Amino acid sequence: MTSTRFLTGITPSGTPHLGNYVGSIRPSVRASLRSDVESFYFLADYHALIKIDEPARIQRSTLEIAASWLAAGLDPERVTFYRQSDIPEITELTWFLTCVIGKGVLNRAHAYKAMVDKNAASGVDPDSDVSAGLFMYPVLMGADILMFNAHKVPVGRDQVQHIEMARDMAYSFNHRYGEHFVPPDAEIEESVATLPGLDGRKMSKSYDNHIPLFAPREQLRKLIAGIVTDSRAPGETKETEGSALFQIYQAFATVEETMTLRQAYADGISWADAKQLLFERIDHEISPMRESYLALMNHPDRIEAILLAGAAKARKIATPFMGRLRHAVGLRDLRSQDGVKAVKSAKSSLPVFKQYRESDGQFYFKLQAADGRVLLQSVGFASPKVAGQSISLLQTQGSAALPALADQFQSGPEVQNEEIAAALQALLDAKAK
Ligand code: TRP
Repeated sequence: MTSTRFLTGITPSGTPHLGNYVGSIRPSVRASLRSDVESFYFLADYHALIKIDEPARIQRSTLEIAASWLAAGLDPERVTFYRQSDIPEITELTWFLTCVIGKGVLNRAHAYKAMVDKNAASGVDPDSDVSAGLFMYPVLMGADILMFNAHKVPVGRDQVQHIEMARDMAYSFNHRYGEHFVPPDAEIEESVATLPGLDGRKMSKSYDNHIPLFAPREQLRKLIAGIVTDSRAPGETKETEGSALFQIYQAFATVEETMTLRQAYADGISWADAKQLLFERIDHEISPMRESYLALMNHPDRIEAILLAGAAKARKIATPFMGRLRHAVGLRDLRSQDGVKAVKSAKSSLPVFKQYRESDGQFYFKLQAADGRVLLQSVGFASPKVAGQSISLLQTQGSAALPALADQFQSGPEVQNEEIAAALQALLDAKAK
């Protein structure tokens, strides 16, 4: 039995923060250690182009995210870890899928619709500031997934619609061209809590309430000190419910440690002490990784080599698969016979009559098989007219005309009469169509 293929893309648009770590990096690295799973992780840098037009930021973010995943324990030997733009087959597949997905389906994509609705609300053109890249985003994502026939795609709720669209593309393509794609399933990470940020809202780059995953120790301490709390004094009982500090702690601590902090809240721990506990707990988990992160960041050449090796591994699948897909849709080597056979009226598979003049000044004709062998060879005629009349007799009557024309052929063609008769019949059949 083949193992289940998991695939996850990470758009390199910023610096990874603790929310990314808890919500995506940590569970993915854990899942990648399972023996019944084959994992694909990639940096979705083509996707980054949709929202970022700062080249240096894309490069920096690609480096930081790759270093973060490796530092967090992703083993590039075990999984396939690559950069999307190193796989040109993905853009090619994007076009194939573009041609099978309805435009109306894309009109309903959340990210695009949200922009259109926003524009409508502010009274500007609905497509104002909407790039075609944003509109096509789900197709590129579909290509990411279908390229490797992933079974499961672990995503947050906001991405579920994209996985459904990828299924749609798989069905549409398979329906037209045969079973090539596995329709993927979204794997929604229910158990993974979204981490609150410094202000209590979901930790996110766009809210500017995040803690960078590999912030230096002192910065980490300072940021944690800035987590919002209420104004209860030391000694007063604290509420765990709605406490961002408590929730962040829980994401890093064991069940026992969490129970201990819950008790401390009830006993009136000071916010300063609670923050110190949280700082120590996070730093305990992060600091070994921080060291490998810094080592990697100082050696971009190592990361580059790892990603290129990953791309080579990925292309071992993508290149031959794309070759089959090209063939399936009809982008083919012209010498291959599949299409020629399939198109019933294709003249190239039929024998042909050829009329020509030799250096002796005489006119000749011959019947040539599709593969070029001469089936019938005429004697020479003084005028081209006789040759033409004989050809049209053979074309209209087939082998029935042969006896009357017997003396027009040079003796001894090395082909059987049956083959000549079959060739003439094939021409008659083709004409009847
Ligand atoms: N769109 C995803 C995000 O922004 C990233 C992504 C790109 C992705 N291609 C993917 C995720 C394929 C899963 C599978 O989070």
